[in-house]
Amino acid sequence: SIPPTTTIQSIAERIKTGQITRIIVLTGAGISTSAGIPDFRTPKTGLYDRLAPLNLPTPESIFHISYFSHSPEPFYAIAQARHPSTLKPTLSHAFLALLAKKNILHFLFTQNIDGLEEDAGVPAEKILWTHASYPDDLMRKAIKTGDVPYCLEPKCSGAIKPEVVFFGESLPEEFDEKVKLIPEADLMLVMGTSLRVAPCSGIPRMMEPGVPRVLINMERCGDMGSRDGDVSILGDCDVGVREFAEALGWRGELEALWEE
Ligand code: OAD
Repeated sequence: SIPPTTTIQSIAERIKTGQITRIIVLTGAGISTSAGIPDFRTPKTGLYDRLAPLNLPTPESIFHISYFSHSPEPFYAIAQARHPSTLKPTLSHAFLALLAKKNILHFLFTQNIDGLEEDAGVPAEKILWTHASYPDDLMRKAIKTGDVPYCLEPKCSGAIKPEVVFFGESLPEEFDEKVKLIPEADLMLVMGTSLRVAPCSGIPRMMEPGVPRVLINMERCGDMGSRDGDVSILGDCDVGVREFAEALGWRGELEALWEE
């Protein structure tokens, strides 16, 4: 017999009936674009296209440790633009907070450093910032002014690197620990990422075969949509999240949580 096709409605049904209780989420820059932070790779609006006037070796160089070590200025100049002081979590962030509130968020891997997941109400112990810990006060000040902070130690006086994982560096050790949670999951949700940067790009493939995976993103990415049980909602993620919430009967609750 032909297995029934998975839809967002059938997944919502399994959540409502308690058959899905451990959701692993992977997010990227796309969930914060509606908060006013451009993503990296969307043509024209993404950061990398906007860096063209800087004539970097490659756009990614700005986040490459070997480039930063001799030219930290471009990093701080753009870090400022990426951290406007009045940011509000998006509806997509609120949806993650709602999953946590319902006790079905198993774990969240985020590639973002804007801190909006926590602002929306996702408990910090459920989040791994794969690229960074949130900037501390000194770093926040540097990011606010766009000035490169220098080490106050006279013998050193080098540029201070933020606690962001640059290209060419390894991820926090915690990453290896937290990926062990992936086989325990009964649903994967991928939102707002192009799945172009390892090792996060490999997370969806770590899901056990047959376990449903949902993509909510402007475009297709990675191998999402290629497995039985995959569902893709293409388009703006806040719209996709509303559709998911509607299917769950949580629409009102989601909007209320977001308004809070
Ligand atoms: P990208 O810019 O590579 O991908 C963002 C994805 O989100 C794309 O697929 C967009 O189509 C999609 N998107 C944008 N706006 C959206 C919206 N409103 N609704 C739905 N989808 C939307 O960003 P990441 O995948 O997060 O690393 O990039 C990963 C890493 O590459 C970053 O953390 C950063 C970057 O270089 C470092 O800096 C080391």
